[in-house]
Amino acid sequence: MRANTALTQSETKSIQLNHSHNANVRGILDAFGLAAGSTVSGVAYGGGFTSAPTGEALETHDPTTGEVLAYVKTAGHPDVSRVAAEAAKAFERWRLVPPPQRGEIVRRLSDAFRRRKEDLALLISLENGKILSEARGEVQEVIDICDLAVGQSRQLFGHVIASERRDHQLLEQWHPLGVVGIISAFNFPVAVPGWGWALALVCGDTIVWKPSSLTPLVSIAVQQIFHEVTGGTEAEGVFSLVIGKGGVVGEALLSDTRLPLIQATGSCALGERVSVALAKRSGRAILELGGNNAVVVMADADLNLAIRAVVFGAVGTAGQRCTTTRRLILHRPIHEPFLERLIAAYRTVRIGDPLDEQTLMGPLISLDAVSEYEQGLAEIQRQGGQIIYGGKVLVGGGGYFVEPTIVRSKADMPICREEVFAPILHVFAVDTLEEAIELNNAVPQGLSSALFTTNLSTTERWLSSTGSDCGIANVNAGTSGAEIGGAFGGEKATGGGRQAGSDAWKGYMRRQTCTINYGEDLPFAQGVRFEAEQATRKRSGS
Ligand code: UN1
Repeated sequence: MRANTALTQSETKSIQLNHSHNANVRGILDAFGLAAGSTVSGVAYGGGFTSAPTGEALETHDPTTGEVLAYVKTAGHPDVSRVAAEAAKAFERWRLVPPPQRGEIVRRLSDAFRRRKEDLALLISLENGKILSEARGEVQEVIDICDLAVGQSRQLFGHVIASERRDHQLLEQWHPLGVVGIISAFNFPVAVPGWGWALALVCGDTIVWKPSSLTPLVSIAVQQIFHEVTGGTEAEGVFSLVIGKGGVVGEALLSDTRLPLIQATGSCALGERVSVALAKRSGRAILELGGNNAVVVMADADLNLAIRAVVFGAVGTAGQRCTTTRRLILHRPIHEPFLERLIAAYRTVRIGDPLDEQTLMGPLISLDAVSEYEQGLAEIQRQGGQIIYGGKVLVGGGGYFVEPTIVRSKADMPICREEVFAPILHVFAVDTLEEAIELNNAVPQGLSSALFTTNLSTTERWLSSTGSDCGIANVNAGTSGAEIGGAFGGEKATGGGRQAGSDAWKGYMRRQTCTINYGEDLPFAQGVRFEAEQATRKRSGS
């Protein structure tokens, strides 16, 4: 059973996979009661999976071999509507549970993810193709956000604000919001939706999750963990799953007024669709969209650190993170020697089976992703870019492998403004920090950025209001691999949303400003006088 689209690539190289991969598949799926080639339900609500979702079945592939792993029955319109109605009902109950008790459920989820860490990491690695170490890191990331959310469940506080009126109290408080729709991408199929649901749950919201159709089995496994932990508790039914096409499930969620908030991760094009749909119904969106992240390396930098950060940032997750390093801006004095070292490091990257502990780069997610890589490179060359390392599709194993690629590019090439979701790194040389900052900021996206320097003024300039314009600005640390403690997200076309730590929890709640008058008079704010005769007489008791 092979995926049905064919590669169009002319320039290829071959790759050899060891034969242990297929032998592992059965055990990995078995850990979640899944069988290779079987058909499973992709819809769950009320604490269980539905047996007969009404949408079409989709195939999910093993990107390492191209084999079909399983068939998933997707949600049709009636399923989505039912799930939203049930999630709205569950909200009526869940919002009454005291927040620390909601936190206790999330603590149990965190324990369950700890227990199932290896099983889930293996499944992520199998279905998504990221290497095992990164897959383990992804499960750790969801454990971390659960732990943060547990603490947050006792910290959902507002402010008491000085009132301008005598005998008045002005305060703000936070209430549960409602049903939160989570639309997530294939590249972080567990951690990024977790940033949303862990906080949303302690905030008193319920969830409808539409995961990527490219990683349905991972989301089914996560849903199973939810059922195991919440079955028979007050949290039963707070978390529902609707796997299905964007055009069916996604669109239905976007237009459903029962969902006051949609958290969406994906391309800038997806973000536009979400924004327009939500604006039409005055819904709220938390968006984390494309990145076009740059590393700047100054001549005074510790080049050992910079090389490691760039290789991890550009090659890690096969270039399929939102935070992937896509542009490398080198100070001219170190430009050539840095590139030489970088190419030497790229040569040592082992590409292959993501389940093999020695592998550093697994396959891309799909044949479409391979085509995007090929088309991206063709366009780069057409616009004057020069491939100096890699550039080939790796065939022979049936999987979706490509070489990590380095390109000498010109700053004015239009394609450098786009996010090509593949391991392609554009390299530029600059003469000054000002030029580097200008180039860093000269793209539509504004997610992550990193500067390597040992100079204090350079650091401060980079972090100042006239420095990097991104939501994430690092110094001597790369663009990818953020911790969950900080708020994660970006500016401009990246969508402006913030998820995970800091005060991102506020996005999942309804803010209420309250004025309490404990006096016997009714002074109006801003000193406004409005004394209707009848009303005044009443007050004086005459
Ligand atoms: C993403 O690619 O959507 O900072 C999220 C990072 C990870 C999350 C990436 N913690 O690279």
